[in-house]
Amino acid sequence: MDRKVTVPEILRRKGGSDPIVALTAYDFPFGCIADAAGIDVLLVGDSLGMVVQGMETTLPVTMVEMTYHCRMVARARRRALLVGDLPFLSYQVSPTDAVANAGRLIKDGGAEAVKLEGGVAMADTIRAIASVDIPVMGHIGLTPQSVHRMGGHRVQGQRRGERPGQRDRVIDDALAVEEAGAFAVVLEGMPLDLAAEITNRLTIPTIGIGAGPHCDGQILVLHDVLGLSERFVPKFAKRYAELWSAASDAIGAYAREVRGGTFPTDAHSFHSLAPVASAPVAPATLLCGEKAAAS
Ligand code: KIV
Repeated sequence: MDRKVTVPEILRRKGGSDPIVALTAYDFPFGCIADAAGIDVLLVGDSLGMVVQGMETTLPVTMVEMTYHCRMVARARRRALLVGDLPFLSYQVSPTDAVANAGRLIKDGGAEAVKLEGGVAMADTIRAIASVDIPVMGHIGLTPQSVHRMGGHRVQGQRRGERPGQRDRVIDDALAVEEAGAFAVVLEGMPLDLAAEITNRLTIPTIGIGAGPHCDGQILVLHDVLGLSERFVPKFAKRYAELWSAASDAIGAYAREVRGGTFPTDAHSFHSLAPVASAPVAPATLLCGEKAAAS
């Protein structure tokens, strides 16, 4: 195993030649696969509301759900830094709530850091969480929890102005997140020159999604990378596989074989004189990538 990725290690990667590679993960199998593939930061994102739960927005996702998914990925994680996303209204009501909920993702979910959306308006909240030594990743630009204010999932920072979402305000948000003590910040859905300017001005790493190539790292949503998002695929997401169609083909083949009487065959059946199974290996003792003894 390569060295464990830590918060200080992420900070050291600022401005270097080794970009931070981040990816979302929501469960044990894909957590194992992504960690073993060398992903530096695994984010259990509230995007799970859309890509796992099939909802239109991330807004209904709860703390209970986030903690549950964090725990699954925490069991899988060996090397990557595990960041848990704070869902809508788990941190906006008061810094006190925010610290308590961030603590739940650390204590119950097994996360090593938390992420929250917002800049200037969330600076005191970031400061409060960081003050109890819970590392905070900021998230500015296109912030999906602000979908109704933005009028949809829209690129931010295109015009000059002081209103949330306008270019000068996005820069102020970035500076506020850094000043409040975040160790990194996600820049989502903004013109690449704005992301480059923010990356140059900050001393903490920027991790881009739909923010061009000049950030200190990149993050994508797992289901977009694997071709598992059928309803909505953002322009900035690159599909590296077509798992929806691969899964659909496999499941269709299984259904056809059962209906056609060609599954199960003798090879998949037990005979009365053979032992039914060798003693199973308790799943908890198995490590990612290891296979249970054949049964
Ligand atoms: O929830 C999420 O997956 C995110 C990433 C897209 C950055 O916030």
